[in-house]
Amino acid sequence: MRARLAGGACAGVFHGAAWARGAAAERAPQAAFAVNCTWPGALAGAQRGPFFHVSTDLVFGAAPPPADGFGPAAATAPLGTYGATKAAGEFAVRAASRCAHVVRLPLLFGDSRGRGLGASDGLLAALERGEQPRLFTDEFRTPIDVRAAAEALVQLADLHSEPEPSAASGQTWHIAGRRLSRLDLGRALCHAHGVDPGALVPTTRAALGLAATRAADTSLDARATRNLSAQLARTLDSGSAPPFP
Ligand SMILES: NC(=O)c1ccc[n+]([C@@H]2O[C@H](COP(=O)([O-])OP(=O)(O)OC[C@H]3O[C@@H](n4cnc5c(N)ncnc54)[C@H](OP(=O)(O)O)[C@@H]3O)[C@@H](O)[C@H]2O)c1
Repeated sequence: MRARLAGGACAGVFHGAAWARGAAAERAPQAAFAVNCTWPGALAGAQRGPFFHVSTDLVFGAAPPPADGFGPAAATAPLGTYGATKAAGEFAVRAASRCAHVVRLPLLFGDSRGRGLGASDGLLAALERGEQPRLFTDEFRTPIDVRAAAEALVQLADLHSEPEPSAASGQTWHIAGRRLSRLDLGRALCHAHGVDPGALVPTTRAALGLAATRAADTSLDARATRNLSAQLARTLDSGSAPPFP
């Protein structure tokens, strides 16, 4: 891949590959570092043109966000190995290429194509099995539908695909929806899918002994992305968590 990129095979690159499971990253930090940091840096350095590196809101979490959420220039401060390796990956990508953009995504929900992944598919499957999922009232995210996230990524690239470094290249962008707790996201998803939310059990990170290891609030401030174009603002609105009673 690196040789092909160096040979000019790709006009532009979206880099989304990652060691993306938090528990797996804790178990195998070196593998997580290789996939989340070393390789993105190597590929960004080899690519001749635009490179869009997908990162995560979990580069934050060790400190509370400002009122409007973490802006693109906020200092990263992750809680776990996954977030730490992704933060290191952002640094490696920027160090390797002045053309590279870092695009941070929030918690994603939506169709995972039968894999039971993301914030909605696993929850809906659990409810269908008659389980009573426990959802946090004290954990806040700015989730977005995965399809809207992908569309926004492409729209960003359409606006920022500089073949050479310029003042506009090498930026950090946030893609995000409205802020809400994990419980309220669960309620919104149930409402959107016509499922009774009565089986959802409110709980807290502290009650499950997870307050030290799960980020309380990694809300992203996506205003700079929204301000890029009316189309991007519409896309982020369309992917934001649906309203619920
Ligand atoms: N899901 C979320 O809520 C979320 C939130 C914020 C940011 N993100 C970011 O979005 C991106 C995608 O995440 P995801 O949740 O969709 O994760 P995912 O389902 O685990 O997908 C990760 C992808 O990376 C590939 N990959 C992993 N190790 C690889 C390796 N050594 N060589 C080549 N490919 C490798 C996997 O390939 P295989 O399928 O072949 O294993 C898979 O296609 C990541 O950069 C992640 O940090 C995700």
